[in-house]
Amino acid sequence: MTDPTIAGAQQGHWASTFAANPDMYGTDPSVPAVAAAASFTEAGAHQLLELGAGQGRDTLFFARQGFEIVALDYVEDALDAIAAKATAAGTGDTVGVALHDVREPLPFADGAFDANYSHMLFCMALTTAQLEQLAAELHRVLRPGGLVVYTVRHTGDAHYGTGTPRGDDMYERGGFIVHFFDDRLVQRLATGFDLLDVTEFTEGDLPRRLWRVTMRKPGHGQVTT
Ligand SMILES: C[S@@+](CC[C@H](N)C(=O)[O-])C[C@H]1O[C@@H](n2cnc3c(N)ncnc32)[C@H](O)[C@@H]1O
Repeated sequence: MTDPTIAGAQQGHWASTFAANPDMYGTDPSVPAVAAAASFTEAGAHQLLELGAGQGRDTLFFARQGFEIVALDYVEDALDAIAAKATAAGTGDTVGVALHDVREPLPFADGAFDANYSHMLFCMALTTAQLEQLAAELHRVLRPGGLVVYTVRHTGDAHYGTGTPRGDDMYERGGFIVHFFDDRLVQRLATGFDLLDVTEFTEGDLPRRLWRVTMRKPGHGQVTT
């Protein structure tokens, strides 16, 4: 796992689910986005990269807070919707979109961003090896002192170990594959970063049980969170 057929099916499943469910996660910003915005402001960050932006509930919030942001996802229609919403909200100039699969190297220059944010992208159908490559790519595209804030469902989640096993602590339910994180994986992905904080939170009706992880690329411009 994840073989290309399963990975391609995941992309199609997200596209059809978003098409059938406009604003699937609502239009309010998520709790981790609000926390991340405070950390990014404190760190003096301005240029953000968001991975797995979905339908943009958090992208639009960051734009309203005055950040410049590139929203990356592999579902084109969702990105088109984000661009349209940003234009309608008068923030079209500060929101860019990037159609890209995070299993491939990121299409950005070294040091291009001050901070990276992702809510429930790392816990998608990505193997540990693919996650390690992604973390290394984030290290490359962040400036020294840049922050990474990512959220993941973890092994304390009620769905952990249920559904169809897909290897590497991934399980499929309702057509979606989730990679459930443990402490060791968080530590492993922090290679080359300073691991600043891991905060537990819940979301949704289940509720999903998640961690918000904050890491910093060593270098100038360091701040505490
Ligand atoms: C659980 S949703 C979260 C969406 C958004 N962050 C939010 O919280 O509203 C995961 C998102 O990651 C995207 N995604 C999953 N795998 C991806 C990949 N390999 N490359 C790029 N985007 C991916 C999906 O299309 C979807 O938009």
